[in-house]
Amino acid sequence: MSNGVLVIGAINVDLVVGADRLPAPGETVVGPRLDRFGGGKGANAAVAAARMDAGVRYCGGVGTDDLGREALAELTSLGIDVSDVAEIDDIPTGAALIVVDRAGENQIAVAAGANSHVDPAGVRAAVERSVGWAGCVLVSTEISTAAVRSAVAAAREHGLPCVLNPAPLHEDLVSAVRAATVLTPNASELRDLCDALSIPHMDVDDAAARVADTTGACVAVTRGAEGALIARPDGGIERIPALAAPEVRDTTGAGDTFNGVLAASLAAGNTLDEACRRAVIAASLSVRQVGARTGMPSAEEVAIARV
Ligand code: RIB
Ligand code: NA
Repeated sequence: MSNGVLVIGAINVDLVVGADRLPAPGETVVGPRLDRFGGGKGANAAVAAARMDAGVRYCGGVGTDDLGREALAELTSLGIDVSDVAEIDDIPTGAALIVVDRAGENQIAVAAGANSHVDPAGVRAAVERSVGWAGCVLVSTEISTAAVRSAVAAAREHGLPCVLNPAPLHEDLVSAVRAATVLTPNASELRDLCDALSIPHMDVDDAAARVADTTGACVAVTRGAEGALIARPDGGIERIPALAAPEVRDTTGAGDTFNGVLAASLAAGNTLDEACRRAVIAASLSVRQVGARTGMPSAEEVAIARV
């Protein structure tokens, strides 16, 4: 059965302060308390995929510290296989400082720590171990660039569908962008993709179509409250509406929810269109609670929200 999901990306501890508004440069804002959550775009997406009842392996790097042990224990408790995670001596586990305002908007500073030491050979080995098990590999870019390139290249060599979430898009990732099956930028990352591929700036539909044509990948652009847009290399364009989100508490992790659910749905054999519909609904539901993973819905909640 090859319907498992291998997720390769960052894992962090998120330290979150809710405040009335985000601080301006040099300004101090005060909120009532500090909350600590599991975070990191890779680990968050792994959790979103596990919530869809997919079999999930997560590959990344932590330090040999308490934060790393706790972060992995949380994933294990959710049924995620973390045996491909590197435990790196003398480098701290990644951490993110997050402020969330009353509208659910955030400001994030990440200390990459162990994430930037994820080793390309380890990532390749994880992909190779997943051949015959994985139906989809999801890669996000908060880990070392060499590891991202290695992951996407290995997935391609082994014929595994590979979703690349270019958040953020570093230089030197053009080869990975060209080797992915599906790209999942937001609107600003889509502009970065255009720059990296020497495509002039244009509106979202045309830009997505050009990126799809240039790379041969399908492009699923996440557009927040406007849902998503899919552009295919054959020129096809599809618009996927979002659910009206009545109460937006925290948009942190909405993109990760989209990516994890997309990968799980593709691995389960759904079309890109159907997988995107589920992913958009899951992302819309995820913003109802503070914490990147807190509001991630179950497969059943996604099915119910749809009707
Ligand atoms: O996408 C949200 C994530 O970005 C947070 O969990 C934080 O850790 C940063 O990596
Ligand atoms: Na949330």
